[in-house]
Amino acid sequence: MEENHHRFRPTWVEVSLASIAHNTRAFAAVARAKGVGLIAVVKADGYGHGALETAKTALAHGAQVLAVALPEEGAVLREHGIEAPILVMGAYVPGTVQAYQQYSLMATISDFDQLKAAAAEARSGRLAVHLKVDTGMGRLGVLPQHALALAQKAKETGNLEVVGVYSHLATADEVDDSFACHQIAVFEDILSDLEKHHVLPPMRHILNTAGLLRFDAGRTTMARVGLGLYGLYPAPHLKGLIELRPALTWKSRVATVKRVPAGTGVSYGQVYHTPKETTLATIPVGYADGFRRGLSGRAHVLIGGKKRPVLGRICMDQTIVDVGDDAVAPGDEVVLIGQQGNERIDADDWARWLDTINYEIICGVSARVPRVYR
Ligand SMILES: Cc1ncc(COP(=O)(O)O)c(C=O)c1O
Repeated sequence: MEENHHRFRPTWVEVSLASIAHNTRAFAAVARAKGVGLIAVVKADGYGHGALETAKTALAHGAQVLAVALPEEGAVLREHGIEAPILVMGAYVPGTVQAYQQYSLMATISDFDQLKAAAAEARSGRLAVHLKVDTGMGRLGVLPQHALALAQKAKETGNLEVVGVYSHLATADEVDDSFACHQIAVFEDILSDLEKHHVLPPMRHILNTAGLLRFDAGRTTMARVGLGLYGLYPAPHLKGLIELRPALTWKSRVATVKRVPAGTGVSYGQVYHTPKETTLATIPVGYADGFRRGLSGRAHVLIGGKKRPVLGRICMDQTIVDVGDDAVAPGDEVVLIGQQGNERIDADDWARWLDTINYEIICGVSARVPRVYR
C-alpha cells in the first residue's frame, strides 16, 4: 500500500516483516516435508498487512507463487516489480483477458462459459489458467463429474495453457475433519482421472493454512497459505501444530484527557453514564478506520500496560475510554491490537467481541490507517 504522505494523526499499523518471514519459513518447512510448494495468498492487500511488502517477504522466505482475488490486485504487484507467478483466484470475468495478458496473471476458469470466453478472447495469445473444481465448497468450480471434460475442452482450445487445477476446503479448520477428508479424496480421484487422460497439470492444490497443517498432500504439488503467514490461526485447536507470530500491531496516541464527575454521559446516544468520578481519554480512531462500532461497550484498549474499557459508542473518527484514576496524558501510546507491557489484545479477541473471525478483523483495518513496516 502507498505510504501516506500527510501523516498528522497518530494512528497507525505496524507490520512486522520479520514475523511474516518467520511464519513463511515455518509453513515452507511444513510444505517441504509434505513434498509441496508454497503459494502465498496476499489478496485483500495482504489481509490488511500490505500486499506488496507481504509478497516480497514471502517470496524471499520460501513461497514460490502468489495468489490474489482480483486481476487489479495482481496488476499492482506487477507494477511494483513482482516477477513471481501470480494466480487470480476470483472467477474469470469475460472481457478481461487483456489484463491477464498484460500483467502476466494466471486466470481461474471455473465453468465452461468462462473457458469459452477466455479461449475466444485470448485468440492467438497465450493465457495460463488454473481450472477450479468444486469438491464441496459450493462456491466456484465445476462439479467433480465435469472436471475431466473441462480439462479436455481446455486442451482442445489450443491457446489456453492449463498450468493448474485446484479446489477449496470448506471445513479445514473444524475439529471434525471428516468433510475435509472427503473433499480431499474427491480431489485425488479427479487428479487420477486427469492423469489417466493425459491432462494432469503441474500445479495442483487444495490445502489452505489449516489444510496444510493437518492433511497429507497426496498428488497435490502446492498449498495456498494465507492467514498463517500473518501469524494467526484459523481455529484455536490448531495452535499446537505450529508456532506463529502475529505480524500486525495497531497503535494510536491519546488525544486528550479530562476529569469528569459521576453521572457524565458519554458519546452519541448517551448510552453510558460514568458511575463515579473518573478520567476519560479520547483516542483518535473510529469506525472509519475499522475500529468497528460493534465493539462499543465490549472492547478495551491498552494504555499504560492496562486494559481500558471503551465507553459508550465508538464514533467515526474518535473513541472514548475510561482510564480511572491513573495518570494518563495526551500523547500516551494506545494499543488496539498487539502487546503493551504484559497485556495483549489479539485479532482473536476482537473476533470474539464481534462474533466474527480473525480474518475479517485484519482485512477490516481501513486504508485510512497508514501501515509502517518494521
Ligand atoms: C480460494 C482460496 N484459497 C486459499 C485461501 C487461503 O486460506 P487461509 O487464509 O485459510 O490459508 C483462501 C482464503 O480465503 C481462498 O479463498
